[in-house]
Amino acid sequence: MTRITRVSLRRVLDSRGNPTVEADVLTESGGFGRGAAPSGASTGEYEAIELPASESIAKAREHAVPRLEGQYAGDQRAVDAALRAADGTDDFSNIGANSAVAISMAAAKAAADVLGAPLYQHLGGAFRGENFPIPLGNVVGGGEHAKEATHIQEFLSAPVGAPSVSEAVFANAAVHAAVADVLDERGVPAAKGDEGAWAPPISDAEAFEVVEEAVARVEDDVGFEIRFGLDMAAAELYDDDREAYVYGDETKSAGEQIEYVAGLVDEYDLAYVEDPLDENDYAAFAELTDRVGDRTLICGDDLFVTNVERLREGIETDAANSILIKPNQIGTLSDAFDAVELAARNGYETIISHRSGETEDTTIAHLAVATDAGFIKTGTVGGERTAKLNELVRIADDAV
Ligand code: PGA
Ligand code: ZN
Repeated sequence: MTRITRVSLRRVLDSRGNPTVEADVLTESGGFGRGAAPSGASTGEYEAIELPASESIAKAREHAVPRLEGQYAGDQRAVDAALRAADGTDDFSNIGANSAVAISMAAAKAAADVLGAPLYQHLGGAFRGENFPIPLGNVVGGGEHAKEATHIQEFLSAPVGAPSVSEAVFANAAVHAAVADVLDERGVPAAKGDEGAWAPPISDAEAFEVVEEAVARVEDDVGFEIRFGLDMAAAELYDDDREAYVYGDETKSAGEQIEYVAGLVDEYDLAYVEDPLDENDYAAFAELTDRVGDRTLICGDDLFVTNVERLREGIETDAANSILIKPNQIGTLSDAFDAVELAARNGYETIISHRSGETEDTTIAHLAVATDAGFIKTGTVGGERTAKLNELVRIADDAV
């Protein structure tokens, strides 16, 4: 029933206005699924390769589509193995991870459609726990996502005490609004970055004050615990030649960076710190995790790139205690699941994540629920972000 009869690919807009790949999968019994690839700006060195959308589509039409027609969409491993075989490389540099992930997600949705089940159930939600993922919401940011703003890429609201998904989603939106109020009171103008976070021209030190104040106001208002966290995207700050982290005119050695982050964790009671160190420095990650990993999540994004080999190295070296999962970093849902499974077996927390370039695709909301992830990172406001957040609210309401 889920045998694939047709795969079509097209270019659609992403949230930055760039072309990205959208895939439609049809099955013989009329099942239909559609998936669209997101796209990163602060990408990790070891991610699967995204090709220009047109090139990726042409290659996938030539090499992958003929192999997929006749496969069972309900057999996700077979679909994803066919994508890997069609590509023939480790990093999807032949057909592009953008076409691969779009097709992989579209096939899963087509299979769910045939079954008449929501995607999260088809992907494994029947075995999920009672907990819903807590949304981490980017409220202030800079780095590669906004010029002339903070060096730290993302300040993330973390409503850890929210009694429901819906209250967590609205709390993050309220923190986003409160940040605008605090900036306004300080006379700071702010545009928005790629993910909809405020991108004010202020120092990192002032951003900590602003976010702390905004979180405190909303916490008072809603009456449950809200903390905050960071994505430092430190690989983008790290200069290989100078062997230092560069913050404008200032630099920090790896040792100073560890001191700095450990100090921030204690001063602000941070719930979460993503990529605090360079993507090649497992040892520095391990040192920081040893110091503060008992009280905060140290998460590898560019460090692990959703790749089981890199995660295995992290587990062996005690480099972190959590992993960011981005299906397009590795190319298929099966590979993303393998990373989640390895993480879970080793006591790592998982955080399912959007990219800075997004579409209205909602797959990651289902993936987060299906895999029982502790967190989902998918912004706070803006259509391509609210698409996922609202889908999460619907899943919690069992109304998908
Ligand atoms: P990206 O950034 O999607 O631009 O890579 C998001 C992140 O670093 O988490
Ligand atoms: Zn990141």
